[in-house]
Amino acid sequence: MSHPVAIQFQSPQIDTLASQTGRIALLVDAAKPATPAAKRLDKAMRGGLARALASEAFTRLKPGESLDLAFPAGLAAEALHLIHLPKKASVAEARKAGAAIGRALTPAATLVLAEAQTNAQAAELSFGLALRAYDFTPHKTAEKKALGPVTLAVTAPEAVATLASPLAAVAEGVFFTRDLVNEPANILTTHDFAARLAAMQELGLDVEILEEDQLTKLGMGALLGVGQGSESPSKVVVMQWHGGKKGDAPFALVGKGVVFDSGGISIKPAGGMEEMTMDMGGAAVVAGVMRSLALRGAKANVVGLVGLVENMPDGRAQRPGDVVKSMKGDTIEVINTDAEGRLVLADVLWYAQDRFKPCGVINLATLTGAIIIALGHEHTGVFSNDDALAGAFLKAAAAEGEGAWRMPMGQAYDDKLKSRIADMMNVGGRDGGAITAAQFIKRFIKDGMPWVHLDIAGTALLKSDSTLAPKGATGWGVMALNRLIRDQYESK
Ligand code: BES
Ligand code: MN
Ligand code: ZN
Repeated sequence: MSHPVAIQFQSPQIDTLASQTGRIALLVDAAKPATPAAKRLDKAMRGGLARALASEAFTRLKPGESLDLAFPAGLAAEALHLIHLPKKASVAEARKAGAAIGRALTPAATLVLAEAQTNAQAAELSFGLALRAYDFTPHKTAEKKALGPVTLAVTAPEAVATLASPLAAVAEGVFFTRDLVNEPANILTTHDFAARLAAMQELGLDVEILEEDQLTKLGMGALLGVGQGSESPSKVVVMQWHGGKKGDAPFALVGKGVVFDSGGISIKPAGGMEEMTMDMGGAAVVAGVMRSLALRGAKANVVGLVGLVENMPDGRAQRPGDVVKSMKGDTIEVINTDAEGRLVLADVLWYAQDRFKPCGVINLATLTGAIIIALGHEHTGVFSNDDALAGAFLKAAAAEGEGAWRMPMGQAYDDKLKSRIADMMNVGGRDGGAITAAQFIKRFIKDGMPWVHLDIAGTALLKSDSTLAPKGATGWGVMALNRLIRDQYESK
């Protein structure tokens, strides 16, 4: 596990600012720049702060952006970050301001002065700071230095700490997701993944691990076919959070957890294959959301299910042309063993609906390369049979700044899945590949069940830094799903 930065809240200690070592970040509302801390700093800097704030470089800053001064004259600090954050700035801008600090964190202590901002802004800032300070270092033998600590100086420390506490729970969920996605497949085997989920029992989640013999008894032939060429046994893990009213139907989250996707016998080209260690990204988001819900004590009933398998070529691996039988009873002709995620989801989704009779279900999967062709890395593809649930999800995603875009579905796409010898094929051709994949999954959703499928192939992992994450796993979806559950399913 990577170590999150420790953030504490306290009232500003104006008198010691000049001798403060490490880093200082000053949040400035251009309309009210002269806070007590700013005045004190300016005095120690002999007017240097006022000159910096009047400079063109500062006035050009957008909300959340920072002007960094190294070794400011008159201060003991090694750096002074001047961050433009008006009192009327949005949640996204407050998080961005925090990220500007998180990105620059070193082992030295950092003091963040946020007197001119609201309590909510200060809390959101601490959230953005923590998210951007994340770093995945367990396999770096030299870089083990801890970050921080960070002190956030605000006028009402207790009120800010209260607002920041549920956000810290969400950040921990995001880190859990990122750690799982960043972990290589020789370490994060199906066994290791299941063990990390089982450890969440300590948080009050009920965690069950279904092993291959039980999956066989349940008839999960589609899921088991994918994993049969691997040395790692296939597993389904069920995580239940009972925070709502007893007897209320739970909301279900289902994730694709392919710990490595070689393509199987329909093997992938070598170039870039190493990226397929992230093919368990959907399962990782489900796990991260469950962790956040437990940590903040969400007042909702939510069940998270993940199908953990490894897709490998082997003497026992499934072949193109094989016919498998799903738990639902439908037969599937496996034309391409690399279209394996939908086979896993088919059985886990059916099991989730059959056992839990949920009030709605959302599944997440790094499902298709085609969604990256369609939407790039900016938006997750959103597929749904229910405008209300899709709309509520899109609203939550927008509020969290997580890109999501609704995609079409329809009978003509479904027709592409017709098989000569079985009930369906597992692929529908190259054209509209993300949509035919969604149509395949929809065949395993019961009539009347509100359902959303999120294809996160383009958003789970990024090759460059983003506002709230360094390059690598993003944890896309944890914040949006946490908000959706908070706003739609929690008893107030
Ligand atoms: N895991 C891949 C999809 C993927 C691609 C995820 C790139 C992340 C980045 C999935 O299992 C897959 O191989 N899909 C095939 C489907 C095809 C065989 C119909 C694809 O997209 O090429
Ligand atoms: Mn594949
Ligand atoms: Zn895959």
